[in-house]
Amino acid sequence: MPSIIVLDTLSSDGLALLDAAAAHGITYEVKIGLKGDALREALAQHDGAICRSGVKITADALAGNHRLKAIVRAGVGTDNIDKEAATRLGIVVMNTPAGNTLSTAEHAFALMLGLSRNVAAADASLRDKKWDRNKFMGVQLAGKTLGIVGLGRIGQAVAERARSFDMRVLGYDPFLSPDRANELGIELISTVRDLLPQVDYLTVHTPLTDETRHLVGMKELDILKPGVRLINCARGGIYDEAALVEGLKRGVIGGVALDVFEKEPCTDHPLFGMPGVLVTPHLGASTEEAQSQVAVEGVGLLVDFLTTGSVRHAVNSSAIDPAALEGVRGFLDLAWRLGLLLAQLDSGAPRSCSIAFRGEIASRNTKLVTAAFAAGLLEHSIEDVNIVNAEMLLRERGIELVEQSRTDPGAFSSVVAVDLVAGDHVHRAAGTLFGHSMPRIVQLEGHRLEAYLDGILLVFTHQDVPGIIGGVGTTFGQSGVNIAQMTVGRSTPGGDAIGVLNLDQEPSAAAVAAVAACPGVRSARVVKLPPAGQLPSWLAAATASSRTAHRGS
Ligand code: NAD
Ligand code: MLT
Repeated sequence: MPSIIVLDTLSSDGLALLDAAAAHGITYEVKIGLKGDALREALAQHDGAICRSGVKITADALAGNHRLKAIVRAGVGTDNIDKEAATRLGIVVMNTPAGNTLSTAEHAFALMLGLSRNVAAADASLRDKKWDRNKFMGVQLAGKTLGIVGLGRIGQAVAERARSFDMRVLGYDPFLSPDRANELGIELISTVRDLLPQVDYLTVHTPLTDETRHLVGMKELDILKPGVRLINCARGGIYDEAALVEGLKRGVIGGVALDVFEKEPCTDHPLFGMPGVLVTPHLGASTEEAQSQVAVEGVGLLVDFLTTGSVRHAVNSSAIDPAALEGVRGFLDLAWRLGLLLAQLDSGAPRSCSIAFRGEIASRNTKLVTAAFAAGLLEHSIEDVNIVNAEMLLRERGIELVEQSRTDPGAFSSVVAVDLVAGDHVHRAAGTLFGHSMPRIVQLEGHRLEAYLDGILLVFTHQDVPGIIGGVGTTFGQSGVNIAQMTVGRSTPGGDAIGVLNLDQEPSAAAVAAVAACPGVRSARVVKLPPAGQLPSWLAAATASSRTAHRGS
């Protein structure tokens, strides 16, 4: 029975949906404030986890986890989750990217207005029984220039609001088209450096990356427009906090409003005692509406995933949509088996590999099939490999994977051809599906043949001369190995040839050596494949859940 762990406070709407998921046999428990061993142990006992930014799901927290399949971040930033570690373990990480956009944009605006009119300081002064109308002279937003760095969802929502406040909006984002900027009334500036001297207000709406870290630091103090007000509702560290203190002291910066900090929680900071500073404890998304939306969407993602296998808003994997899976299931099995086969044909270090689709398969979702081939190649060398993490693992190992497609049919309506460069050799195989689900080898090492792609195989190369098949059969017969099926392929009579035997028993090393020693035989190698119909665990799970979903619908 699938179970979910809730690791941060979730809105009651989200919890109600989790209660309702009991109808799908899903249970859940809420455990907030976990870390260290307690977090690792708790994560290992659940199939899904949902969190906000309060918990840190590090590689250590995931170490040795063989059960968790999905982590959902109810919010945007997934920087509290080690996605590399999750991917390596085949755990899908999803987020709810749009649920808190408007709330966060409004919070940026609240901070901008609050700074401009000294709202917090005037409030504190009046509560202190002072009626001081001169001390809190403000400025208006209309007519001022706002700079926005990061024009994604939140940045654009801030821009729209700023335009209706009659502000001039300048913006910088490497991925915003001039047409879209025009529509939003944003003047695009080509670098942050060019933007900084021009703006009265600066707000940032990017993730924290190597590029955005300390986007305003000590050096930038010299180019800021004097009196500028800086707002950060994105991530702590985009402004260098030491530079903010210095800029306020020098009077270069007129005001600072922060919702996020380099270290959170942050309850003590040199900025807190300074005038012109407005701070909130990471409240950008803390509205009833945003929390309800991210919780409902997040729980929906997790329950869908656990009941149907569908993946949406994955931040670490290609989406495995059950409908897409449906169209290529047989080919996923074929490609996975071709990967398993090639990996066993050579023990040299793999350098590169390729997969080519020909015929009708070329017009389907070949990306998934390619990932399945990669998963097959790696399955025996790496733990927990699947179609979510296989391509990344190949790349991490410096193994190039090239994909090609052509839709015109060859000898079969669909063929998947693969090769692997390992050591000094290139190994090639091609396969097709008989019916919808019976994988067959139709070419091996450049020779046409037809062999089952399941069970125990003996692949042997030889010279095309009389007596080879008899010799191999007799040798295995003497060792008590039954041959279920035999096929040979050659390109020219008398030339190089290859044979594939489907065996009922695994031959001993001595029996294989005896075959290899038969006159005319050049090499013999055992390849072990799963029995026909046995799917890889990642495909079996997704297939079972998508079937359950179809039955339920
Ligand atoms: P988004 O992905 O829609 O937008 C981010 C934008 O930043 C993208 O357009 C991207 O091109 C741009 N960008 C990336 N690197 C850049 C760079 N070096 N210079 C300029 N632009 C760059 O994300 P979003 O939903 O708009 O969220 C933005 C940020 O706000 C995220 O860091 C998110 O975690 C944070 N956030 C904070 C709160 C909060 O409670 N304070 C709430 C929601 C989101
Ligand atoms: C987010 O990235 O969604 C925010 O930081 C909101 C949050 O987690 O509270």
